[in-house]
Amino acid sequence: MKKILITGGAGFIGSHVVRHFVKKYNQYKIFNVDCLTYAGNLTNLSDIEGYSNYEFIKEDINNDEAIFALFEKEQFDAVIHLAAESHVDRSISNPKAFIQTNIMGTVNLLNASKKIWGEENKENLFFHVSTDEVYGSLGDTGHFTEETSYDPRSPYSASKASSDHFVRAWYHTYKLPIIISNCSNNYGPNQFPEKLIPLFINNIINNKPLPVYGKGENVRDWLYVIDHAEAIDVIFHNGKVGDTYNIGGHNEWKNIDLIKVLCKVMDEKLGRPENTSEELITYVKDRAGHDLRYAIDASKLQNELGWKPSVQFEEGLKLTVDWYLNNKEWLNNVTSGDYQKYYENQYLKR
Ligand code: NAD
Ligand code: TYD
Repeated sequence: MKKILITGGAGFIGSHVVRHFVKKYNQYKIFNVDCLTYAGNLTNLSDIEGYSNYEFIKEDINNDEAIFALFEKEQFDAVIHLAAESHVDRSISNPKAFIQTNIMGTVNLLNASKKIWGEENKENLFFHVSTDEVYGSLGDTGHFTEETSYDPRSPYSASKASSDHFVRAWYHTYKLPIIISNCSNNYGPNQFPEKLIPLFINNIINNKPLPVYGKGENVRDWLYVIDHAEAIDVIFHNGKVGDTYNIGGHNEWKNIDLIKVLCKVMDEKLGRPENTSEELITYVKDRAGHDLRYAIDASKLQNELGWKPSVQFEEGLKLTVDWYLNNKEWLNNVTSGDYQKYYENQYLKR
């Protein structure tokens, strides 16, 4: 049985990736290593907890001794690395945590993989999950390709860019078998309500203002999270070692246009009169160094590996809204911090 370590599996994207692999591949044992920061939530995975090919291990990737010991004990065949500090606004107020986890934590995992796999290894894989934000900010035209030069501009994107460079350095210097993917903005169930879409859903439910940064003219390329998990699967199994793959939704939206569509969907779902939610829109001070536009050219992934997004934005947005409306307890728990109790009850008291 192949042993695969997925880091950050209790977070938004990680939980979808873990579920996807656990359910689809019973010939793999999936180890989810996560230290459960504010963004990590084991209720995201309560449906697969009992699966025999799944194991959760609470560990911090910054703890290099514990990480080494774990790799030695379990002898993982492959790593899919998602654990990270992931929110740009938090990186602006507390950059150090991003440097620590996103750079040093990644290097710890690279070192541990190198140590147990040796140099001339062909069977193993270190899959590093990264972001399109490493490429910087686009003007009104153009797309990021795998050849676009790195130009990160926020502490978050600088830390992810740095981690990408270290992953490539371990490939060139130590022949560690690696693949990197750089994906556009994800949305969907289980996203912590600090990112645009879930934050605004939560605020609309609670009739709170919707804080639009600047004029709302920044553009993001949105991908449904389950499509991202599929792309990671395809690249993990068929990607070329040493290569980079861009993943994107071909789905650019100006923030304010997206927010207006979201408001409309929310009014419909909540049975409120038209324009009720739009009235909550409040323009606030812009984010410092706010990147204007991200847009991914994912043609390499489509042409070489046959992946393309399957969920249309309007459909994905409705699925997302439905999920939050049907999981108000999840929302209340993550916003109150009560979900930590879940971990204690599930794992420490038995
Ligand atoms: P998230 O913040 O929802 O989850 C991150 C997870 O990592 C959490 O479960 C957290 O507990 C865990 N974690 C954080 N620090 C850790 C540490 N030191 N040790 C162990 N676990 C730790 O993030 P996400 O949005 O799911 O993003 C996952 C990955 O995908 C990140 O690497 C991110 O850069 C990348 N990515 C995200 C997006 C997006 O739109 N969210 C887009 C492209 C790439
Ligand atoms: P976010 O979800 O934080 O993702 P990222 O910054 O990684 O792209 O933000 C998406 C866009 O929405 C970005 O242009 C910033 C904007 N935004 C707001 O206007 N208001 C908010 O409260 C948040 C969180 C984001």
